[in-house]
Amino acid sequence: MKIRNIELKYGIFLAPMAGVTDICAREIYRSHGAEYMTTEMVSAAAVHYGDKKTLEIAQISEKEGLCAIQIFGHDVQMMANAARVMSQLPSPPCAIDINMGCPVKKIVGGGDGSALMKDPVLAGRIIQSVVDACDIPVTVKIRAGYDRQHKNAPEIAHIAEECGAEAICVHGRTREDMYINGTVDYDIIAKVKQTVKIPVIANGDITCGADFKRILEYTGCDGGAIGRAAQGNPFIFEEINAYMQGVPYTPPSRQRRIRTALEHIRLMVSTKGYLGVLESRKHAGWYTKGLSGGAEIRNAINKAESLQQIENILYSALSIRDSEE
Ligand SMILES: Cc1cc2nc3c(=O)[nH]c(=O)nc-3n(C[C@H](O)[C@H](O)[C@H](O)COP(=O)(O)O)c2cc1C
Repeated sequence: MKIRNIELKYGIFLAPMAGVTDICAREIYRSHGAEYMTTEMVSAAAVHYGDKKTLEIAQISEKEGLCAIQIFGHDVQMMANAARVMSQLPSPPCAIDINMGCPVKKIVGGGDGSALMKDPVLAGRIIQSVVDACDIPVTVKIRAGYDRQHKNAPEIAHIAEECGAEAICVHGRTREDMYINGTVDYDIIAKVKQTVKIPVIANGDITCGADFKRILEYTGCDGGAIGRAAQGNPFIFEEINAYMQGVPYTPPSRQRRIRTALEHIRLMVSTKGYLGVLESRKHAGWYTKGLSGGAEIRNAINKAESLQQIENILYSALSIRDSEE
């Protein structure tokens, strides 16, 4: 698949996740085979007011390969301005992604995220203004619709294409269903694909190589985006790559999982200092899910106050052999 001149082999995307897919996680995901990634969402209003933390979220490292910056907001001028600023950063993104899918109350209540799907005219004005404001491709992330009575993803996708968007990512649930209720609606994703000519990326509940292939085959989509299944599990990208190549895949051993957790946490602490120690707790929780002794490891890491303490905990967890799993 191709987004302008960006060519991807299988269309394996990392879905944006606020509080998860930061610069460190993305470096890890990339090294395990994610082909294209997106930052956590960046507030257009915060860019407008020059918020420093926001510019940190938008930082992209050279090691990441292809990475888009996602912006959210509902003010046409602020969204255009944010896109302009983001596309001109010293390490610019490969694309600007517009968030029209976030279901969180705080975001939707402000008229942002999936609230925009209720107002196709405003959605179109925003997409058009962002396209006009930057030279790089603009993509849009949407849901099936706002609620089950209004599954208007094909309409919004059509508007996005008309306004110059160059790819669409669709999560196959409505805002009403958040990320968990019911099943992902493959049919609405397929309808979006049939409605537009630009690439469509399917999203929702992809947890393995077989899921990835199934959703692409059913919907005809050009790629698939993986969210929660990547938490503490960068290996999913290796697995999907192997599945698509048709080669056998061996799941990571306990040792490899722990060593990767160590690598990820070291990167977080070297990048963010003490904040990295605190933020690494949730990643450690995900990496150790299902490991024998995992609960003890998590309890200990949740109390750790330094990288050295976390390293010691994980080193002693390494000493349990795989055969004990
Ligand atoms: C913790 C968390 C944070 C998320 N943050 C964002 C975000 O910033 N922008 C966005 O478009 N979607 C966000 N999402 C939605 C994901 O990109 C994705 O659509 C969703 O998790 C469904 O895919 P999955 O079933 O593979 O997890 C978030 C999801 C989670 C679980």
